[in-house]
Amino acid sequence: MASINYNDRIPNNVNLSSDRKLQRALERWQPAFLDWWQTVGPQVFQNNDIFLRTAISTEPGGWAQFGHVKMPDYRWGIFLADQEEDRKITCGDDAGKPVWQEVPGEYRNMLKRIIVIQADTEPASVEQQRWLADCAPSLMDARNLFQVNVEEGRHLWAMVYLLQAYFGRDGRDEADELLARRSGDEDKPRILDAFNQPCTDWLTFFCFAMFTDRDGKYQLGSLAESAFDPMSRTCRFMLIEEAHHLSVGELGLERVMRRACQLMQKDPNQDARALGGIDLPTIQKWINHWFGYSLDLFGAEVSTNAADYFAAGIKGRWRETKDFEDHNCLGATRAVSTVENGKLMEMEYALRNCMNEELRDAYAKDCHRVLSRWNRAVKDEGINDFEFRLPSTRFFRRQGQYANNNFDLDGNLIDQATYDANLAKWLPTEEDRVYVQSLMKPVHEQGKVANWIAAPRRGINGKPFDFEYVRT
Ligand SMILES: [Fe+2]
Ligand SMILES: [Fe+2]
Repeated sequence: MASINYNDRIPNNVNLSSDRKLQRALERWQPAFLDWWQTVGPQVFQNNDIFLRTAISTEPGGWAQFGHVKMPDYRWGIFLADQEEDRKITCGDDAGKPVWQEVPGEYRNMLKRIIVIQADTEPASVEQQRWLADCAPSLMDARNLFQVNVEEGRHLWAMVYLLQAYFGRDGRDEADELLARRSGDEDKPRILDAFNQPCTDWLTFFCFAMFTDRDGKYQLGSLAESAFDPMSRTCRFMLIEEAHHLSVGELGLERVMRRACQLMQKDPNQDARALGGIDLPTIQKWINHWFGYSLDLFGAEVSTNAADYFAAGIKGRWRETKDFEDHNCLGATRAVSTVENGKLMEMEYALRNCMNEELRDAYAKDCHRVLSRWNRAVKDEGINDFEFRLPSTRFFRRQGQYANNNFDLDGNLIDQATYDANLAKWLPTEEDRVYVQSLMKPVHEQGKVANWIAAPRRGINGKPFDFEYVRT
């Protein structure tokens, strides 16, 4: 089961050839996908040989094979983690009962909606990033971007498989719509706001991979706990690929920080910008912006939808099976800071209604872990009077219950005037954006790297930094 059949037109480990109807439907969708890839996928190096990894098995460890491939020839396919024998529902009213191999009628719409929203983010990010290679700081960075892009394309395949295999005609229509919406389009935008934001500089890309892809990790983790077993298996394999995207973001940002520290020490005023770097306070503003945008993706703090998903066993918490004992949570409560009569206070809510907040907490904790690593890197570079920090989860929110009020970086409720007076200190200004954009000049020479970012400490799959990651 784990090995992948690459002889089929659509590589898969789901025995696709045994279901002719589904196979035909997916084979009809395939040219539309390739057309979408050519039109709004990477617009630079589209037909060059790129050093990419391809999945060869869904078993942990031996799953990736590296080699040069032209992106349009990448073998996108349908790969699910192996079925666990006797898997039981992990949470909600039916915890402990056998998982579903088909979609129960009463949860059909709920499940379809969740899959469509997750699916929509996959092509959206590829569209957002389609011009980035044009100003890549190195060929290895361009390669990393393309690896992320082809895998997001594969994640789209994974979700489209679920739609077409389990949701009949509706599912096929939704699969077509996924190729019709466009990131940032006025008439047919992508579903979620963060996926309609422009991404034209690499600082934004690294923040996106660090913070927004990490939201994806937590969403996939909660869906991996799902009672709908095919979705759980799909998400479990996607999570393995997703880990690489997060490291592209985390290590990319660390390299920008290290370079800033190095330049600070060369400049008499410790000004990294004077020497063409991205100064640490500017990086902090990008972090503030993207952390906030990504927090919004978890949904409202107190949510009846979240309670319904949990009760149905469709979405669990992060590591529901491993880290919790009470998988029912009926009658349990938790506190959520809430604005009441102009004051911020702790209020108790039914825990089931706070499942978005539970997932957001796990996500924020993970982000804090990375922040401490970055702060160690800054110290390691000899800068002792600067520390990166994450803002409060109430800061700069446009969705959920904090969206209607203003908060400072520590999460204190503040008035509009105070907020406005500090905005330029907390979030990227137009001037910051123009400056960062001005640094975005391509370095497309093997083994060379842009001045504003440190060279990576390690290459890909044991290769050195000056390896031919992109054949130009
Ligand atoms: Fe993805
Ligand atoms: Fe991703």
